[in-house]
Amino acid sequence: MRTFSNPELTANEAERALDRAVAIVRQNLPLFTHRCQNHSSVHDIYPACDNVQWTCGFWPGEIWLAWERTGDDAFRAAALTLVDSFLHRIENKIEVDHHDMGFLYSPSCVAAWKLTGSEKGRKAALLAADQLCTRFQEKGGFFQAWGELGAPDNYRYIIDCLLNVPLLYWAAEETGDERYARLAHRHVATCLANSIRPDGSTYHTFFMDPETGAPRYGATCQGYRDDSCWARGQAWGVYGIALSYRYTRRPEHLDAFRRVLACYLEGLPEDMVPYWDMTFTSGDEEPRDSSSASIVACGLLEAARYVPGDEANDYRRLAAQMLGSLVKSCAIRSGPQGIGLVRHGTYSKKSPYNTCTPEGVDECVSWGDYFYMEALTRLTTDWKPYW
Ligand code: GLY
Repeated sequence: MRTFSNPELTANEAERALDRAVAIVRQNLPLFTHRCQNHSSVHDIYPACDNVQWTCGFWPGEIWLAWERTGDDAFRAAALTLVDSFLHRIENKIEVDHHDMGFLYSPSCVAAWKLTGSEKGRKAALLAADQLCTRFQEKGGFFQAWGELGAPDNYRYIIDCLLNVPLLYWAAEETGDERYARLAHRHVATCLANSIRPDGSTYHTFFMDPETGAPRYGATCQGYRDDSCWARGQAWGVYGIALSYRYTRRPEHLDAFRRVLACYLEGLPEDMVPYWDMTFTSGDEEPRDSSSASIVACGLLEAARYVPGDEANDYRRLAAQMLGSLVKSCAIRSGPQGIGLVRHGTYSKKSPYNTCTPEGVDECVSWGDYFYMEALTRLTTDWKPYW
């Protein structure tokens, strides 16, 4: 496994960085208690939005992490106000015809239930799990990511969904209904069988045959090219597979984790903050995606719970080095109301070969801020995941 010479973030430094992040979350509470935070910033300042985006769960997740750090009831009250909004959204099926139910409901509503026993949070999260199940395609065994169900030009899943299925593992444990876990297992098995290339890199999206359910081909949406490795897709792979292992303890998940992680590490520049696509290397004039570094740090710290001692130490060291680099070169220390936490994220960058809508290039991104706080929390405590 590749090693790096960057300094590790110490526990003390991590606590200070987390406290700076909590101070910014506190400052931004008035803007984003009755509205949500946009998916990405504009010159590092987040606009507000309605609760309609796939990313709206990350901000309440930040508030819950701030509450765990401080115990301050202002955070608890704001996060519970947002739970009302999430219950309204799922009960009224507002912008939920896609697979991102875990991204939306784990850090907002599962967290509310686990931390405070909020019945509204539990109800909303279980409705969201049911909604995700409606997108399961028997032919192929996967959750269809986007678009009209069954439409041949959208008959695909995407690697990001590995962060949506933990909602189902949780729902199975919570209700005793094994169907949630069965569908989650089948999706993960399909994903691991098709989305990982022989060199450990991953396809962003993967098409299946709607007639036979057979695998067809991988393609990108937000990466540079179909055959390149989109940094955040790889990061969702690392963390999502670690989370699947948490629930399933299947050895093949740990094998897949190691392959995907090794490839991610090989593709990093020396400062461990990846370019938005791993086709780019040191010296390229391309934006980074700092959010991938935070996501992978969370995956490393989750996996460190399950692997033998030396390997666990390697994973903890890598995570602390990644976070050291983020704190040094990307973290925002203070700013006006609406300021984000972590610079140099990239949501979607247009290339000549991809199909994305360009948004949030070299900006703060809502999930980047959330996973940065989660990773710092993981580094300093024995954190119980919202996932
Ligand atoms: N799940 C979409 C993204 O990571 O941008």
